[in-house]
Amino acid sequence: MTNDRDFRIEKGLVDTQLDICEKVKSLNREKYGDSRPGCYIRTFGCQQNEADSERIAGLCRLMGYEPCDDPAKAKLILVNTCAVREHAEKKALSIIGQTKHIKDACPDTVIGVGGCMVTQQHRADKLKNSYPYVCFTFDTGALHLLPELVWGALKGEKRRFVISEEYGIAEGIPTYREKPFKAWLSVMYGCNNFCSYCIVPYVRGRERSRSPEAIIEEAKGLISGGALDITLLGQNVNSYGRDIGGTDISSLIRQICALEGDFKLHFMTSHPKDASDELIETVAREDKVAKHFHLPVQSGSDRILAAMNRKYTAEKYLGVIDRMRAACPDISITSDIIVGFPGETEEDFEATLELMRRVRYDMVFSFIYSPREGTPAARMENQVPPEVTRKRMARLLELQDAICYERNRRFVGRRLTALCEEVSKNDPSMMTARADSPRPIHFKGDESCIGTNVELEIYDSDTYSLYGKLV
Ligand code: 5AD
Ligand code: SF4
Repeated sequence: MTNDRDFRIEKGLVDTQLDICEKVKSLNREKYGDSRPGCYIRTFGCQQNEADSERIAGLCRLMGYEPCDDPAKAKLILVNTCAVREHAEKKALSIIGQTKHIKDACPDTVIGVGGCMVTQQHRADKLKNSYPYVCFTFDTGALHLLPELVWGALKGEKRRFVISEEYGIAEGIPTYREKPFKAWLSVMYGCNNFCSYCIVPYVRGRERSRSPEAIIEEAKGLISGGALDITLLGQNVNSYGRDIGGTDISSLIRQICALEGDFKLHFMTSHPKDASDELIETVAREDKVAKHFHLPVQSGSDRILAAMNRKYTAEKYLGVIDRMRAACPDISITSDIIVGFPGETEEDFEATLELMRRVRYDMVFSFIYSPREGTPAARMENQVPPEVTRKRMARLLELQDAICYERNRRFVGRRLTALCEEVSKNDPSMMTARADSPRPIHFKGDESCIGTNVELEIYDSDTYSLYGKLV
C-alpha cells in the first residue's frame, strides 16, 4: 500500500506554536523573574498518554514552567485524561474538581484538560458547563496547540474547548522526561480496529505512522541522552507503516537495533491478528529486543471474540503463541483480558480460563467491561450483571496468580541483567529493577543504582515479583 495522505501537520504551524512558547516565557519572566513558575501535570491511562504528557511537559518547559509535584504550588495545572474505562474518567473528573479551591485561592492559575476524555462532546460540554474554572480543553489531536491555549488563558481570552476535526502528526515538539533512562517513543498514533468495546478509535482518530526517519532521529537522540530502555508505542504497532508504505514494524525494529549503544528495545501493543512470522523472528534474533510480547487476547471464547470484532479465534491466537515459543522458548508473554463483555456466558468465561491455562501468561492485565458511550458494545443487550462479573474476575485472578507463581519460579537460580528504575514501593531499603518483561525484580541496593543496568542473581520469587542479589 502506498501513501495516499500525508498526516504531518505543516511545520510552519508547529513553529508558530513554538514561537508562542517564547511569548509565554517572557510573560512568566516579567511576573516571576528568574524563578520558574511550577506546572503540575497529572496523567491517566496508557503509555501513549504518558508519552503525550512528556511532550506536554516539553512544551511547558519551553513556556518557562518547571514541572512540580504539588498542584497547590503550580501556576499551570494540566490533567491528561483517559476514556478507556469509566473509572478512569471518574477519577480524572474528581481531580479536576479538586483544582477549584486552588483556582479560588489563586485566580491566575491556568487549568487545562487534555487527552482522550475531552474528545467526547458530552465530556467537553460537562467540563464547559460544570467546571467553570477549567480554562481550556485540548484533545489528543490538538496537543500541539497547547501554547496558544495557555497564552489565551493568561491573556484572559474566552475559554476554548478544542475537538479536532482531523488528527495529524506534529513533529518537532520537544519532550521532557523525568527518567531519561527510560523512554517512550511513539511510532504511530490512532487505531483502525474498532474493537466493539473500545473508545480509542473515536478519540484518537485513524492510524497514522510517523516516518522511519523521524523515529530513528528521535531514537538516536534518546540513546545519546542516556536512554537504556526504549519502548516503541502504538495502539497496534504491528500495523506500523501500512499507511505510508515501504516499511513495517520488523524493519523499523531492525533499523533501531542497528544504532550504536547499549539499550534494550521494547514495543507495544501487538494485535494478535497482525503478529507476523517476520516480527516473531526479528524479536528472537535481535539481541537488543526484549524477549517479551504483550499480546492482548481479551477473551478465550470465539463467540465473544467475534462480538468484540477482534478478527481471530482462540485457536488462531494459540497458533501465534506456539510460533513465538518455537522461535524463542523462554519468551515472556503478557495479555489484557476483559471480563463481563455483553452476552458473556459461564461457558464463554470458562473458555477464557482454559485459554489462560494453555498459554500460561507471565502476567495478565484484567479489566471489568465498562460500557463506553458511542461504541457498538454499549448498545448491546444482555449486559452482564456486576455481581456476576465480580465473581468471574475473582476466579480469573485466582487462576492467574497460581500461573504467575509457577512461571516466576523458572527464574530462580538464573542471572538477569535488569534496569534499576526506582526505590521499591513496599520496602525503602530495596530497589526495583525490570528485565525483559514488566515483572518487578527487587534487590538490596542504593539509589545510585537507579538508571543503571544491574546484574542480578535471582534467589527467590513469589506471585508478583522476583528477588535478586547484585553480583
Ligand atoms: N472496558 C474494559 N476494558 C477495556 N479495554 C479497552 N476498552 C475497554 C472497556 N470498554 C481494555 C482492553 C485493552 C486495554 C488497554 O483496556 O483490554 O487491551
Ligand atoms: Fe481499542 Fe482494539 Fe484499537 Fe486496541 S486495537 S486501541 S482495543 S480498538
